[in-house]
Amino acid sequence: MQQSLNVMELQLCERFVREFDAPPEQIVTSPGRVNIIGEHTDYNNGFVLPMAIDRCLMMAVSKRPDELVRIVTTDFKESIEFSLSHLEKGIFTWGEYITGCIWVLQEKGLQLKGFDMVITGNIPVGASLSSSAALEVGILKAASYSSGFNWDPVDMARLAQRAENEWVGMNCGLMDQMICACGQQGHAILIDFADLSLHPCPLPENSSIVILDTTTRRGLIDSAYNERRQQCDNAAAVMGVATLREADEPLLAEYKGRLSTLEYARARHIISENVRVKQATLAMSKGAGKELGELMYQSHCSLRDDFDVSGEALNMMVECAMEHPACYGARMTGAGFAGCAVALVAKGDEQGFVQEVATEYEKRTGDEPRIYVCVASDGTSIKKV
Ligand code: GLA
Repeated sequence: MQQSLNVMELQLCERFVREFDAPPEQIVTSPGRVNIIGEHTDYNNGFVLPMAIDRCLMMAVSKRPDELVRIVTTDFKESIEFSLSHLEKGIFTWGEYITGCIWVLQEKGLQLKGFDMVITGNIPVGASLSSSAALEVGILKAASYSSGFNWDPVDMARLAQRAENEWVGMNCGLMDQMICACGQQGHAILIDFADLSLHPCPLPENSSIVILDTTTRRGLIDSAYNERRQQCDNAAAVMGVATLREADEPLLAEYKGRLSTLEYARARHIISENVRVKQATLAMSKGAGKELGELMYQSHCSLRDDFDVSGEALNMMVECAMEHPACYGARMTGAGFAGCAVALVAKGDEQGFVQEVATEYEKRTGDEPRIYVCVASDGTSIKKV
């Protein structure tokens, strides 16, 4: 084995040997993500500014000569096994993301080969940090190795989304899969969903990104998510535009009387959020942490008041963060309702921020949060063991 394996990789290899009696051939690393700004804009053809983070899933993988797929996870203490020629829907839990990805590759007409795999990771599940996109994109990467097909990150992100939409049944947008596949160390990525173009933006040097996990989890957010999608589509139809990306504030004002109160509020969030994302990339290009932070907080207020996808714990966490003198700005991140907030914090003051905000949040809610500094990382990658 190579010398350059870190502790997590070494433990993963040891587990692989215990399970399959030989060392793995390759290790796939697939990151989670945090979205800095641009929430619920992806399925409205708009702009987002997420980054891949240094929390990931790792998958040790070896080819098999037959059609069998055997996968063990260290986290769920569960294993799955299936044949590539007998895919069935709805028999696994987390495994559905895997069978969904296999299905989508077969739909594309690819001839797949089996593999053995052990998965480990440190992305909290259900925390809005995209552990499912990390799993999907990671599986596609492993399959591209075991079956020898070409890896194009944007194509693969689209396939992963299709697996989640059509196999798992979650009607998500494309942001999570895109950033997981295309992340870049030290950068957030501006993604324009009109043409899927990617514009890497270096993070301001005077600040750090901190994830604030309320540890609240909310299952079954699908219906609230789908309802928001529908309201956005309705608002666009009333205003006579294909998507809310094509709408602006004057148009919204013109149609105010013809939109329902909720449609108006949802559209106002999307329209203002798209503007904020563009302003945020400008602030980043100037290294202006304070400006970026202010936009993040405005985004939070808009998600809380107009889009109505925040929650008590997220609001409290954002308020605790905003009251800290080292905080430039904070907001809920991801789909919403529960999970994590993200803050931009003055460099050098991170440790004080982490401890003091955790203490304050616990004092106000009685719950112990998990708060940690994170760094922007590369997208899904594979290396030889
Ligand atoms: C979830 C979805 C994404 C995106 C965000 C909200 O993470 O998977 O596609 O819509 O919510 O911005």
